[in-house]
Amino acid sequence: MGFYSQELVEEIRSRSDIVDVISGYIKLQRKGSGYVCVCPFHNDHNPSMNVNRPRQMYYCFSCGAGGDVFRFVMDYENLSFPEAVKVLADRAGIALPEREESREEREQRDLKDRILEVNKLAAQFYYYMLRQPEGRQAHEYLTGRGLSQETIRSFGLGCSGKRGNELYQYLKSKGYPDSLLKESGLMNADEKRGMYDRFWNRVMFPIMDTRSRVIGFGGRVMGDAKPKYLNSPETRAFDKSRNLYGLHLAKASRKPNMILCEGYMDVIALHQAGFNQAVASLGTAFTQQQSVILKRYTNEVLLTYDSDDAGVRAAARAIPILKDAGLRARVINMEPYKDPDEFIRALGAEEFQKRIDSAESSFFFELRILERNYDLKDPESKTAFFREVSGKLLEFEAGIERNNYIEATAARYHLSTEQLRKLVSQTGERLGGMPRAAAPKPPPGRKKPDDMEPAAQRLLLGWMSADEKHFRSISRYVEPEDFTDPLCRKAVELLKEQTEAGMFQPASLYQYFTEEEDQKKLSAALGAQLPSLGGRTEEEKALQETILRVKQQSIAWQTENMEPGDMDTLMKIVRKRREIEKLHISLD
Ligand code: UTP
Ligand code: MN
Repeated sequence: MGFYSQELVEEIRSRSDIVDVISGYIKLQRKGSGYVCVCPFHNDHNPSMNVNRPRQMYYCFSCGAGGDVFRFVMDYENLSFPEAVKVLADRAGIALPEREESREEREQRDLKDRILEVNKLAAQFYYYMLRQPEGRQAHEYLTGRGLSQETIRSFGLGCSGKRGNELYQYLKSKGYPDSLLKESGLMNADEKRGMYDRFWNRVMFPIMDTRSRVIGFGGRVMGDAKPKYLNSPETRAFDKSRNLYGLHLAKASRKPNMILCEGYMDVIALHQAGFNQAVASLGTAFTQQQSVILKRYTNEVLLTYDSDDAGVRAAARAIPILKDAGLRARVINMEPYKDPDEFIRALGAEEFQKRIDSAESSFFFELRILERNYDLKDPESKTAFFREVSGKLLEFEAGIERNNYIEATAARYHLSTEQLRKLVSQTGERLGGMPRAAAPKPPPGRKKPDDMEPAAQRLLLGWMSADEKHFRSISRYVEPEDFTDPLCRKAVELLKEQTEAGMFQPASLYQYFTEEEDQKKLSAALGAQLPSLGGRTEEEKALQETILRVKQQSIAWQTENMEPGDMDTLMKIVRKRREIEKLHISLD
């Protein structure tokens, strides 16, 4: 990570106020002395993300996302740290000196850029090939599947050559080295043949990111050979879990929803029929990251997965992922056709629009799947089914919405609304009197003893990072060694170094913890809501308790881990015990 100097990173940080930067992406609301917004990393409809100007940090109390201004840009824009530095430097008008990059880091950055460059040339090459005599078969294949010239052009479709080395020859003639061509995923290599094209004699579908850069390819055979589709492998430029086919076009569609389907051809057929809000995942299961990305552009996703069993299962898996991102989901029924492409070819756009209008809410779709596990003719099984349904109904938080669904469910299964409502509230009582989704988190300070340990330490770390004054006063009583949690200890050490160097900057701690797990823990600590304290004496009292707990834990830990007969440590422990008896905290 450290290939820009610390000074440069800090300068960029100091000119990238977190409130200004985040408000360039999402709407911030003032709240008290700070700012809040709807979290772009998970989503509920509530503004659960706090943006803290004095600390230059953000933290979501609901999903735990948090960090400094660099972390935000990295996660929001899906960038590496160096790329985020570049974005913020450009924004602040700070020039980045080339020489600050280490060679290795530059090669890494270069690699991505150069793969993108090669991909672009490859896409142009395939596009050109489609218009050569050699590409006639492919061209006829595409038009035979009903695609217009305009559609072929706007998706940049092409074809690969029949010999299996045309692209390699072309890129070699442009001077690209074998090593890069291998990293691009466009070539295979083996001892007998050397380097050769991964794709040959296929119709080529370039895959774009949201900035319309070619990140990879899918290639389809023109007959029945296997595999039907071959895709680029993941490369430095191609992350299948964070991209969606067609999104570069769909994001500008201005439709009230997005249509999520399974295949490249489905996306293309839908766009051609005017449903230009269609996207597909990339030959892999739909991911949580993809759902969060979709949430940036829409509130509702319509699923048009294949009508077969595999498609139904895939839809059932996608629904909770969409819900978690705060998206409404509905499922389009395409019977008797297999997929949207076939449906539209057979019945046309108007009929498809009708299917959109009558798409089933994901709730009822899930009920239908659930039903299969029960025998509704058997009274006992039927009761069990309705118990489970009641549990699902409890997941609706808003009362009105839940009531509507209770009514609709009752009507569907010929129950009286009252009966079902009663069952739902009984189930609710059984589950603890609370709707499942809205069940409150256990209050802090009442956790199991083994959770408790880092909790006190993180709380104390939160206090120490509040501002320099707090850090200095609290440091009089606590040392980094008092923290048994490695992350807290390291963080306090770093803050101490910063204070000594006259650069107290808690937000910069993120750079020292590269693991996502660690960053989350750090955010939990730095974003910890300190008990709202009435005044100075209360604060001192709360602080005293926390420090005591941390020190006691440290002593307990040392005692437990001491080598038998280690007199030095024993003496230290005894001295510490005595110290904490006399401990009296003052915030002067
Ligand atoms: P389908 O088999 O449903 O393909 O696979 P399709 O889009 O309807 O294909 P056509 O209409 O016969 O051309 C759906 C998606 O799964 C991935 C591709 O992304 C495809 O678009 N897939 C499928 C592969 O990656 N490899 C395969 O061999 C098959
Ligand atoms: Mn198909």
